[in-house]
Amino acid sequence: MLIKVLGSAAGGGFPQVNCNCSNCADLRQGRPGLRARTQSSLAVTGEGATWVLLNASPDLRQQVGAVPELAPRAQAGARMSPIKAVVLTNGDVDHVAGLLSLREGFAFTIYATERVLQTLAHDRIFDVLDARLVERVPLAIGKPVELTGGGARLGLTLEAFPVPGKVALYLEDPKAGPGLGTREGDTIGLRVTDAASGAAFFYIPGCAAVDTALADRLRDASLVLFDGTLYSDEEMIAQGLSSKTGRRMGHISMSGPEGSLAAFDGLGVKRRIFVHLNNSNPVLREDGPERRQVEAAGWEIAFDGMEIRP
Ligand code: MLT
Ligand code: MN
Ligand code: ZN
Repeated sequence: MLIKVLGSAAGGGFPQVNCNCSNCADLRQGRPGLRARTQSSLAVTGEGATWVLLNASPDLRQQVGAVPELAPRAQAGARMSPIKAVVLTNGDVDHVAGLLSLREGFAFTIYATERVLQTLAHDRIFDVLDARLVERVPLAIGKPVELTGGGARLGLTLEAFPVPGKVALYLEDPKAGPGLGTREGDTIGLRVTDAASGAAFFYIPGCAAVDTALADRLRDASLVLFDGTLYSDEEMIAQGLSSKTGRRMGHISMSGPEGSLAAFDGLGVKRRIFVHLNNSNPVLREDGPERRQVEAAGWEIAFDGMEIRP
């Protein structure tokens, strides 16, 4: 099994079109120790010939162009793609908008929870994905499924599980109370297993908290790719970028007593990699103290093009 990180940034990417935070401004100035990142997506293969995208970002076309293995095979006829399936972990714009760049008429399968599939079904722009070619398969929580797409078995098994989170920003309902209308299935984590080797990893790009159920699930895992949106809960406010805390956005922070560094401490996870990094996050500075701290705690920071062999 091979994972390629297509995009390691959170929604907006790095730099973000309208953002003048010190990270974005310094990156534009060419300051060393900062590198650009596209929005949140992974590509995974079991046997090497067929690929599954975990989330489809608005930068999908650029991301696919940067990975030769995702190009059409030369001998395969006029039209083909090695991309045979797309799995969605929520309905966020940074995770679903790339579906619109896959409307060129080839067969693949979309896997998502019933809640996220309903969101796609209610928005007619996604009807550009021809239903005769693009199958939409609901993911049942806790029931592993063998991935298929384009008429092929993909050699990967997927298990979806709910994680603490929040409904997509554009679906928030302020009248629905503090949860803003969030329900189970709005945010999931994935466990992907290579059918041939048995190797497995967890992918959880959005997560509001590590509760007991999640901690128990992740204990002693060999590899977890986890929500690295923010370093501190109030960093967007402190930098004058937003009035929202990480908690309000449905994202756990790295630091603090309830942060991910503390939550994973002692869990026995062998390899820990932060993905979905917001452009405000100080760990993006490769020479900064926050970066040193998270690396000393055993974490890696994903970058676009990173290859991981679970
Ligand atoms: C998030 O991860 O919180 C969302 O991508 C935010 C957004 O939709 O901009
Ligand atoms: Mn996001
Ligand atoms: Zn910024």
